[in-house]
Amino acid sequence: MNYEAIAREKADVLIGRGHARILAVESSCDETAMAVVEDGRRLVSGVIASQIDMHALYGGVVPEIASRMHVQALDPLLDQTLAQAGMGMEDIDAVAVTYGPGLVGALLTGVAWAKAFAYARQLPLVPVNHIEGHVSANYIAHPDLTPPFVCLVASGGHSHIVRVDDYGEYAIMGGTTDDAAGEAFDKVARVLDIPYPGGPLLDKLAEEGDDRAYSFPKVHTPGEYDFSFSGLKTAVINQAHHLRQQGEAINAADWAASFRRAVVDLLAEKTVRACRNSSLSRVALAGGVASNRLLRREMGRLGKKAGLEVFMPPAALCTDNAAMIGSAAFYRLMKGELAPLSLNAAPSLDLM
Ligand code: KG4
Ligand code: ZN
Repeated sequence: MNYEAIAREKADVLIGRGHARILAVESSCDETAMAVVEDGRRLVSGVIASQIDMHALYGGVVPEIASRMHVQALDPLLDQTLAQAGMGMEDIDAVAVTYGPGLVGALLTGVAWAKAFAYARQLPLVPVNHIEGHVSANYIAHPDLTPPFVCLVASGGHSHIVRVDDYGEYAIMGGTTDDAAGEAFDKVARVLDIPYPGGPLLDKLAEEGDDRAYSFPKVHTPGEYDFSFSGLKTAVINQAHHLRQQGEAINAADWAASFRRAVVDLLAEKTVRACRNSSLSRVALAGGVASNRLLRREMGRLGKKAGLEVFMPPAALCTDNAAMIGSAAFYRLMKGELAPLSLNAAPSLDLM
């Protein structure tokens, strides 16, 4: 039998048992991550090799460096992930990998590695969409959460309000018409001389600032559940340059707090509105921006007011990790969705 027939046969056994231990690989951007996840819900072990210190030297992710660092990190991560799980390769039932969206070279390193592992061990290979991974982080953090629910997915590359109808079934309700929320945080952080990655550090600085100190123009958005951050970002950056040219000092903490407030208000209000209008009482947060402290507080507050049950993964499961990929993969595997060995990276992959 060839590899694909063996993988299919093994997948059918796993589907019959409704049980699988998946080794998941994530390398779409600047973190190499690996995890073992059981039945989509239990994180057995997870390890992340961060490249932040290297990219910080250049003020942002350098794709070529990211790819090279992933290649170096993948093999040692396997040893660490298995050791932390107290498992050997023979305990793994299937392999999952992020194949998009993301940086093409970075994605390819993980895809090639996962294909090699799957072939060598003759295991099913499950392709995972990175955005679906972010949504699925909630399944690990909240074993009681099941679809349907509304999910705000806000990361460095994507900002969407999604209706999760079932596992792997989504309807996009709205999203950004220009920059992603994380991208806006990162760009405004740069103007405040906050080093890369700007979002989390700006968030920390904002905790000490007054969010009413500066006022920025109101954001106009085309659709009921859409966002736009480009206009706000440009206005904020121009205003900072203008003040500096006039020799006025900017209070960085106040500035960060005021900007964060504008972004979070928009995200939270639209997400709560999406829940209300779709008559869903459960809402989840996902993606790197979901670790933002104000967004978490505001969603908690507004959600409570609107009678919603609000789910958010801990910060470590909001930013890129492999646990979320292993969770998403379980539900794909149970539907019999496998990748052939010709699987390629899909840098512009959409959620649906
Ligand atoms: O999901 P993620 O780790 O990677 C992508 O798939 O993009 O998200 C990274 C993005 C970056 O733009 C980062 O600045 C932003 O999420 N981010 C934050 C916070 N933590 C990460 N933005 C605002 N506040 C935070 N605490
Ligand atoms: Zn991500």
